[in-house]
Amino acid sequence: MRDQAEKLRLKMENKRVATSIGVISGKGGVGKSNFSTNFSFNMAKKGYEIVIVDMDIGMGNVHILLGKKTKRTLMEYLTGQYSLEDVKEPFLDNIDYISGGSAMATVIEWNDLMFERLLSVFELLQQRYDYIIFDMGAGATEWSLQLIETLDDIIVISTTEPTAIMDAYSMMKYVHMRNSLKNMYIVCNRTLTIDEGKQTLKRLQNTAQQFLQKELKILGSIPEDIHVRKAVQQQQLFSVLYERAPATKAIQKIVETYETGHIKSLDEMDENRFMNALKSIFSKGRG
Ligand SMILES: Nc1ncnc2c1ncn2[C@@H]1O[C@H](COP(=O)(O)OP(=O)(O)O)[C@@H](O)[C@H]1O
Ligand SMILES: [Mg+2]
Repeated sequence: MRDQAEKLRLKMENKRVATSIGVISGKGGVGKSNFSTNFSFNMAKKGYEIVIVDMDIGMGNVHILLGKKTKRTLMEYLTGQYSLEDVKEPFLDNIDYISGGSAMATVIEWNDLMFERLLSVFELLQQRYDYIIFDMGAGATEWSLQLIETLDDIIVISTTEPTAIMDAYSMMKYVHMRNSLKNMYIVCNRTLTIDEGKQTLKRLQNTAQQFLQKELKILGSIPEDIHVRKAVQQQQLFSVLYERAPATKAIQKIVETYETGHIKSLDEMDENRFMNALKSIFSKGRG
């Protein structure tokens, strides 16, 4: 959406420009929505302001996972019936969400106008939050790929099953073919052993390296954990309900890795530049 120059300009003007993240997978049911919501919760705990956008339109379940009843959905915004304020709902202090809507009577057919409205909501959200998390539907459609192409970071979720790995790879390939410079992260969900997770991630990383010459960034693994299902059944987030659960610990570690490994903000870069300038003055002084 915004090119780097535009982002830079807004940053210089001290305007907020959210980082956008797309959570994607090839195969369905691998844990995207649980990841998106729990990742968001743990990022919000660090003080970031987050909005989750449920892009699984018509079959969305973000609001169900958050234990919320939604009145209005993204679809109603896209078709021009409601404004952003009408469809955006609060979840917790630092988290809002926009529901994709579930059990819709008709299958959605994207059109140019809807896509333009999607991009304009995206621009508005970029000025109001630190992170926009798009919980995508499984697989690729022309529209979802177009959206993904405009995002900053992509997090690909796979399980350890060969079918999920294969589909995750195909999905990455689609994204890569459209934009080879995209920041792509991988997460392995539902691992039975630490080794299983590592092997899956390595396999994906090596395959992408070999066939796409693409460097995937490993965020980590989330173990198979009964607390995930228990929390879903209670319509609460597992990281809220079960702070000590293995899945919660894993997602916290992933948030840590994402945050610390993330490309430095311009402010940080300025700080570095300042430090480097100081260092060079001192070293010259000494020499
Ligand atoms: N780490 C995990 N441990 C156990 N079960 C999990 C885990 N992650 C996901 N699940 C199960 O998989 C189901 C589907 O997850 P969901 O996040 O809705 O997937 P997606 O959004 O990719 O379709 C969950 O309802 C839960 O029962
Ligand atoms: Mg989902």
